[in-house]
Amino acid sequence: MRYPIRPVDETEWESFGQVLGEGFGWTPHPQQSARYKAETEFDRTLAAFDGDVMAGVTGVLSLTMTVPGGQLPVAGVTSVAVLPSHRRRGVLSALMHRQLSDIRERGECVAALYASEAVIYGRYGYGRASSELSFRIDKHASAFVRNAPADPSLRLRVARPADVRSELEKLFAQVVTERPGRYERKPQTWDIVLADEEFDQNGNGSLRTVLAEDDGGVRGYAMFRVKQSWDANGVPAGELKLYELEAADPAAYALLWRNVLDRDLISRVEARNRPVDDPLIALLADQRQLRANWADELWVRLVELDRALASRAYSAAVDVVIEVEDEVCPWNTGRWRLTADRRGAECKPVDEQPDMTVPMSALGSAYLGDGVLTESLAAGLLREHSPGSVRALATAMSWSPKPWAGLTF
Ligand SMILES: CC(C)(COP(=O)(O)OP(=O)(O)OC[C@H]1O[C@@H](n2cnc3c(N)ncnc32)[C@H](O)[C@@H]1OP(=O)(O)O)[C@@H](O)C(=O)NCCC(=O)NCCS
Repeated sequence: MRYPIRPVDETEWESFGQVLGEGFGWTPHPQQSARYKAETEFDRTLAAFDGDVMAGVTGVLSLTMTVPGGQLPVAGVTSVAVLPSHRRRGVLSALMHRQLSDIRERGECVAALYASEAVIYGRYGYGRASSELSFRIDKHASAFVRNAPADPSLRLRVARPADVRSELEKLFAQVVTERPGRYERKPQTWDIVLADEEFDQNGNGSLRTVLAEDDGGVRGYAMFRVKQSWDANGVPAGELKLYELEAADPAAYALLWRNVLDRDLISRVEARNRPVDDPLIALLADQRQLRANWADELWVRLVELDRALASRAYSAAVDVVIEVEDEVCPWNTGRWRLTADRRGAECKPVDEQPDMTVPMSALGSAYLGDGVLTESLAAGLLREHSPGSVRALATAMSWSPKPWAGLTF
């Protein structure tokens, strides 16, 4: 092997971090680096070596991710970088091949990642599986529809995030199962989410929270920073940068949004990484005021196609034979009969005529419920042999709410 690959241990963190720093052009504060080190599962790291030089790295976080109908152990691929001196020599490809076979050996049937660039991971069988919106709304244009929900038993509580951490964690654990793509947070991840040193703030002020609660407890929270400013005429022009807004029910959700949109001295709210079916869109009276940008979010790879397809629920009954060719994970190559209905799903190898021939990345794209198979068909990226079979599979695999992870890993 040209670049031998092995996991690294804690004593090699500095070199591992240096490859990431050089690859991304990023210089973390030592405390930031320590947080990422605490989150790193060293037995799941991999590094490729050129002699003594660590030339490329990657890692996996062991996630528990919501999929349609339940939760699954999912390999969260992270920390991918190759030294600029070693790029485009196949280092990433070697790491990806080794990593996928390690993931299979570990027993996870699905891998997911956030891609720094959308062109990188399709070649390894990952498909764009969820999308996100970033948007900004001017306060004066943020009125809600008249029938927006309101619950008089709800009240708001302003708090420092660190002081209410356990309440945030509890509420988050409650909502995490409601949407495919969301994943449980370990304490180390919360340490990163709530980090609020000056270098975490990026000039946007300290992290703030407001909780929505009733006598039964917390029903939602918003987490944000406020960038104060006044324009040349002395008119308040503050910006509220929203990081998270989670709620267990629509009334708490509406109240929290109203609160962040209505704050004094704020003229605009900016929210990054929100779901594409964010209920806020339905709440706004004038939806054109949501100035949004779309981007891909999670990329998903079915590591063991049969186990993965049998491990989720389906929106409609389906019975199709899928043919795939998988050069990266050759154990998936073949024809598979997927039979699913509301009671469960089965996926077995067969020797029958296929209804469709699809790339692995298309199945990864559809896995969390984004319903993209018909788009792929229309784009000519799948081959349908039995008319209507792709639509039937797309309908069965689609899910509501739409997939969204909400926090980059
Ligand atoms: C992205 C990165 C890891 C690729 O590593 P690499 O070792 O150069 O990749 P490889 O040489 O194995 O490339 C394999 C293939 O992917 C292509 N490829 C890799 N990165 C690409 C990119 N950013 N844009 C376009 N194509 C890319 C290569 O051209 C090659 O194509 P080929 O098989 O048709 O020849 C590396 O460029 C890097 O560290 N980038 C900065 C950090 C980063 O973005 N990391 C990913 C985080 S999600």
